Amino acid sequence: MGELLEVTNLTAGYGDGPSILDGAHLSVEPGKVHCIIGPNGAGKSTLLKAICGMLKIRQGDVKFNGQSLKGLRPDQILRKGICFVPQERALFPKMTVRENLRMGGYSLDDRSGLERSIDEIEERFPILKERRDQHAGTMSGGQQQTLSMARTLIIKPAIVMLDEPSLGLAPKIVQEMFDIMKMMASEGITILLVEQNALMGLKNSDWGVVLDLGRTLFKGPAPEVLADPRIQELYLGGKKAA
Ligand SMILES: Nc1ncnc2c1ncn2[C@@H]1O[C@H](COP(=O)(O)OP(=O)(O)OP(=O)(O)O)[C@@H](O)[C@H]1O
Ligand SMILES: [Mg+2]
Repeated sequence: MGELLEVTNLTAGYGDGPSILDGAHLSVEPGKVHCIIGPNGAGKSTLLKAICGMLKIRQGDVKFNGQSLKGLRPDQILRKGICFVPQERALFPKMTVRENLRMGGYSLDDRSGLERSIDEIEERFPILKERRDQHAGTMSGGQQQTLSMARTLIIKPAIVMLDEPSLGLAPKIVQEMFDIMKMMASEGITILLVEQNALMGLKNSDWGVVLDLGRTLFKGPAPEVLADPRIQELYLGGKKAA
């Protein structure tokens, strides 16, 4: 038995451009929160895009449950249960909250099952029930992020990848988002997130991964990554992790 998701020696880039990822490694454990940190331009977002099939794999491999995802389209990868929430959240701002939830299940054939799943999600996230007829674009940043995360649950995902979920949110709201991720992980969903706020990201994660110049430099239990003096110096602003 291998890991749930295994990225080995991955090389990928945009169009005919240079390789942005150049030997990235990653392995993710089921039901855990994994946080990727690294400087601007390190290739963090590119790594998530390569995993979800938006970029072609030039070299190396991405395996899910031991099977290569090479050559699969994003919709095929989604159907396998790998869900990507991009930085811009990709909600439909002019659609209502309920319609946005429904769009999350567009790949499902079972329409009545879909409505049932939406009802369940509304029960779990009362704010989404309360706001069900409101246009998504008129909600607060935290509410929109909650909707983005809750929407992934429609497909009963195995892995949810989130790019900078904390962006533009107040610290208290950021903690709420991490609490949702941890709740999802406790139900067996694997979380892979990219976080600009490295300190907060690692404190709320099980595993930490440091990516720089398209390569994985370090991977370990999040407390170890936080405590490593070199990583503190280079990637955590030299701050002593409390
Ligand atoms: N659509 C694109 N087309 C061409 N090059 C791109 C594209 N998106 C990103 N890049 C390049 O890929 C490199 C890595 O970008 P990426 O967005 O993966 O970094 P990142 O680690 O997510 O950075 P940030 O912390 O700023 O989000 C950068 O040099 C960037 O210019
Ligand atoms: Mg990015």
